[in-house]
Amino acid sequence: MAAADGETWWRRGVFYQIYPRSFQDTDGDGIGDLRGIVERLDHLVWLGVDAVWLSPIYASPMEDGGYDITDHTAVDPVFGTLEDADALLAEAHRRGLRIVLDFVPHHTSHRHPWCIESRSDRGAKRRDWYVWRDPAADGGPPTNWRSISDERPGSAWHLDERTGQYQLATFSPAQPDFNWANPAVREAMADVLRFWLDRGVDGFRIDMATFLGSDEQFRDEETPAGGPPVDYVRDARYHFNRPEAKDHLRELRAVVDGYPDRVLIAEMLYDSPIDVLVEFARDAGIDLAANFGLITQPFTAEAIAAYVEAYDEATEAGDVWPNWCLANHDMPRPTRLGWPTARTAMLLLLTLRGTPFIYYGDELGMPNVDVPPDRRDDRWSVSLAGVTRDAFRTPMRWDAGPNAGFCPPDSRPWLPVGDDHERVNVAVQRDDPGSMLHLTRRLLVLRRRTPALTVGTSTRMRGLPTGCLGFTRTARGQRMLVLCNLARRDATVELTGVGPPRIVETTGAAALTAAGAVVELGAGSAIVLQLP
Ligand code: GLC
Repeated sequence: MAAADGETWWRRGVFYQIYPRSFQDTDGDGIGDLRGIVERLDHLVWLGVDAVWLSPIYASPMEDGGYDITDHTAVDPVFGTLEDADALLAEAHRRGLRIVLDFVPHHTSHRHPWCIESRSDRGAKRRDWYVWRDPAADGGPPTNWRSISDERPGSAWHLDERTGQYQLATFSPAQPDFNWANPAVREAMADVLRFWLDRGVDGFRIDMATFLGSDEQFRDEETPAGGPPVDYVRDARYHFNRPEAKDHLRELRAVVDGYPDRVLIAEMLYDSPIDVLVEFARDAGIDLAANFGLITQPFTAEAIAAYVEAYDEATEAGDVWPNWCLANHDMPRPTRLGWPTARTAMLLLLTLRGTPFIYYGDELGMPNVDVPPDRRDDRWSVSLAGVTRDAFRTPMRWDAGPNAGFCPPDSRPWLPVGDDHERVNVAVQRDDPGSMLHLTRRLLVLRRRTPALTVGTSTRMRGLPTGCLGFTRTARGQRMLVLCNLARRDATVELTGVGPPRIVETTGAAALTAAGAVVELGAGSAIVLQLP
């Protein structure tokens, strides 16, 4: 495990998630590529993030945006070559940026050569690399295990006519589950980690980490009165949420620990209770168990303040480092909250105790784009509120030119860039000190040079007006106060018992009056104060 000194890079730093299809296209196919990311690294340096998490770049038929892999150690030609990946690592490291790859160990594409081999014959050498079972007595699926894809509810088992057995595919039939009970699978996945670690990657975000493994006795999930469990994903005991997942992950941790200073991030269920996040991180040897509280909680002062406090206390007590995000490639962008609340959400993300993850484009306040049905790509919608995930996977906007500078003017981007790209883009916002981009950058600068905000403790401020939340961050004698008004009306906060504060940042309509004793917070706005 990395040192628990509070100064480790992944505790102090800020992650930036890139969806590679959508960052920068250099070869004119309308799809982003690794060279494009290299071209844009200076944006990330200027912005002031520390590490990049890349969604999958591996060989894939792209039936699930690359989370359906056919070769874990090859770069998909649409993104470039292995040499391009090496160049990206070198160029990133030269600029002091770390690179974390997405690692997808739960399943492969149904077109993976191992899967094709496994399907070919009951006696195939790799038959038991995937999960196969005979039909139940009535010819139906062997257990009552269900698919977790919104698009394809129903059994997780799929009959293979040729060999007469059912294959387990929890997420989609195009992504069958690996058999994690098989040591050969575990060794193959450890080899994948070594392959990328040897090339210099700084860690991994582990996809569907809590889903590794299923019951070796193939017991049916218990269902109340014969019906499905109330919340299948959370309540499943045999299909996934297996205790073995933690053992498997600890084995992977041991591999990663053969290399200095690497990070392991685990994708967790979106509504995982806080105690599960803490326990999982601790027991599975995970540095950051992804916390989606800012997405799943109602964005009200009461709900967020209570969640922040509970998560703070639990992570502190469990000796686990916290983390936060506002969106990702599965969850809508924070502009869903409207303005100016989306600015306040960014301020919150970058001042809370714990490692922040910024999703590409959120530094601009990119909208969730209304992608017309004939331009949609994603077939496995798993996002909140049934929104197609395409809405928040649209191309990064670099300038006000054609295709927002994402791809050459005569190319067609794989998803539309959105109508308002002439206003919401890097070039325009770089010229506007009041922009979301500059706010994000200033907050990143502030965070970097303020130990109280990076590694400081956090204490909830009570007695605030309805709709407001506040907390102080303290380290090395330095005290910062963060106040957010998440309500739709202005609020006034009186500061008592503190000396005159100094404003260090605001999202806009926030000010100090009466010799610093009163903070006026406009509806939806926020302020960071330094206390004497
Ligand atoms: C994870 C990924 C998601 C993908 C799914 C199946 O949840 O974040 O994008 O569709 O796994 O691989």
